[in-house]
Amino acid sequence: MTDYNRISVEQVSGALGAEIGGVNVADELDEETIGEIRRALLEHLVIFFRDQELSVDRHKAFTRRFGEIFIHPNFQLGQDDKEMVYLLRQPGDTSVAGEKWHADTTMMETPPMGAILYALEVPAYGGDTIFANQYLAYETLSEGMKDMLDGLNAVHSDIRVAGPQSDVNSKRTSKVRDDANWRPTVHTHAIVKVHPETGRKHLFINPVYTMHIDGMTEAESAPILEFLYAHQRRPEFTCRFAWKQGSIAFWDNRCSMHLAVHDNHDSVRHMQRTQIAGSRN
Ligand code: SIN
Repeated sequence: MTDYNRISVEQVSGALGAEIGGVNVADELDEETIGEIRRALLEHLVIFFRDQELSVDRHKAFTRRFGEIFIHPNFQLGQDDKEMVYLLRQPGDTSVAGEKWHADTTMMETPPMGAILYALEVPAYGGDTIFANQYLAYETLSEGMKDMLDGLNAVHSDIRVAGPQSDVNSKRTSKVRDDANWRPTVHTHAIVKVHPETGRKHLFINPVYTMHIDGMTEAESAPILEFLYAHQRRPEFTCRFAWKQGSIAFWDNRCSMHLAVHDNHDSVRHMQRTQIAGSRN
């Protein structure tokens, strides 16, 4: 555990997640405070802030303190502002963005290092987000499984979540590109990565973007991947965040996964999200 002078940090589960206090993220924060927020993120993988008021400009300004803003390649339908993604769930939607376990946008050659999600409007209950610690997922594997995975890569694609064949736009308000010119983005990543800042090993696969193990067919990879997908979301690796209006979740996308729980059946849930560019590792 690290000591903090500028912020308070209260761990929310045994696996990951901490609530940060004593800071208004819309302010021009000094370097020491930003440094402590970054330290808390590295230590806890996802950090939460309550009762924040964040305009679009201040949301972007806070994001830029941690890196360049990542432009999402698929969530851009009808939007002038390419730096902000809005995730809107309305009554009648039968699906929501992010309802299956994933790390964000891992089909990119350089996936985003993190995301900052801000709640504009949330239901009275439901619509939580669950996070899972992928260091723990790796560390709790047997030595035999670790040895096998250490040399393997996996192919990631956005074919299940964007483009006309995905059919996601018929089920939800938050639209993705589905025009005829859309082409899948496909890149390969090591199944076990070393975090560029902490130096710790973590799993880097997820059931939304990962297609198969490089050099194997989907059928050959499936038993190994299915075992890992079940393992990497074990309850003891997770924390669950119940949103209020003005809450923020800021996650490290390199070493965690998350899922939006779609149980707020007749209500509106409206979120505003930036992503932070990553580095290739
Ligand atoms: C996401 O997957 O980035 C969104 C998560 C959420 O809306 O809770």
